[in-house]
Amino acid sequence: MARPPLRVGLVGSGFMGRAHALAFGMAGRVFDLPLEPVLELLADANATIAAAAAERLGFRRASGDWRQLVADPAVDLVAIAAPNVLHKPVALAALAAGKPVYCEKPLAATLNDARDMAMAARAAKKVTLVGFNYLKNPVIALARDIIAKDEIGKVIGFRGIHAEDYMADPDAPFAFRHEPQGGGAFMDLGSHIVSMARYLIGDIAAIAAASVTVHESRPVKRGASARKTVTVDDQMHAVLRFASGVLGTIEASWITPGRKMQLAFEITGTKGSLSFTQERFNELKLYRMGRDAGREGYTTIAAGPEHPPYGEFIPAPGHQLGFNDLKVIEVKALIDALAGKSPAYPDFAEAAAVQAVIDAGLRAASERRWVTVEKI
Ligand SMILES: NC(=O)c1ccc[n+]([C@@H]2O[C@H](COP(=O)([O-])OP(=O)(O)OC[C@H]3O[C@@H](n4cnc5c(N)ncnc54)[C@H](O)[C@@H]3O)[C@@H](O)[C@H]2O)c1
Repeated sequence: MARPPLRVGLVGSGFMGRAHALAFGMAGRVFDLPLEPVLELLADANATIAAAAAERLGFRRASGDWRQLVADPAVDLVAIAAPNVLHKPVALAALAAGKPVYCEKPLAATLNDARDMAMAARAAKKVTLVGFNYLKNPVIALARDIIAKDEIGKVIGFRGIHAEDYMADPDAPFAFRHEPQGGGAFMDLGSHIVSMARYLIGDIAAIAAASVTVHESRPVKRGASARKTVTVDDQMHAVLRFASGVLGTIEASWITPGRKMQLAFEITGTKGSLSFTQERFNELKLYRMGRDAGREGYTTIAAGPEHPPYGEFIPAPGHQLGFNDLKVIEVKALIDALAGKSPAYPDFAEAAAVQAVIDAGLRAASERRWVTVEKI
């Protein structure tokens, strides 16, 4: 029986826009979905970019104006993969038009904007989902399960980091990520490890932090001699106190040579520990105390069909999912929520709570003090 269509309007066709398009195209082949995604309309900064991207990614139509996309009666869902400052205007317009929204992280450029977006979503009673795709990894679900089943005992510590090196070159050009509103390593990368910390450990109550801008100017475009001043952080180190009393640390950096995707954590408990890095994201390391004297060490668990929904992709363990598969799992979660099968997570409210931690961390760093995280 044909499934009802879900006509997708996508804003932005860069790194993430492409990942959205691929995921919408693949989700119905991997999962038995209640709705069939249709790549209906793509909007980008102008009509030429939009038309070329629509053709490349398989969208039926293109527009140089996201407002047209939001207002289009043939668009059922608005997906936002544009620079951070656009998230709020596009999402608010979509919600006002009665449409659900799938938005990239971080939710907004500022905490005020994120709060407005969460309130608008609540008032509109529409499904929202934010692209913290690393939470969709089957071994992250396993980590949560191991913690819930008390296999590592009472959690007593969280050490998290998100380090990459894509801004390590001082001549990497100035981009939207360097804008004072909505940029910086802590906002861009730190939001991922904060979302992970909240998902696995719980609410973060307070934060102390220090940050540094190592490369204080960048060329206005690649190879240009004119440079623009950068004021956002390249690197941030923070100490956290979770609401449960657990202590933690978080680092974010986009200038760590050699680190390509070190979204990593160690969680310590009274009976064992968990260790994970996105650079080897089909593995979770588990250490349990007192198991085998003289042979102690971490066990490496390879992702396999026992870790849903891995088996929907591949019947054999150890063959490994890829980054785009996480986006496919995210799209499945979105579509299940749209069909009323399960609540969307992380929705705008959760992403605003992540933003509250980012905002508190940035204030803690500039004011050199502990800052209480605002409750959303
Ligand atoms: N979930 C993740 O793992 C992840 C990874 C990378 C980026 N992101 C997020 O995705 C978003 C986009 O980042 P990216 O890396 O894809 O950036 P990008 O620069 O590769 O792409 C941005 C896209 O937005 C388009 N755009 C710019 N102005 C526009 C306008 N006025 N109207 C419509 N489109 C416009 C650009 O032309 C481009 O197609 C950001 O919010 C970023 O934080 C998330």
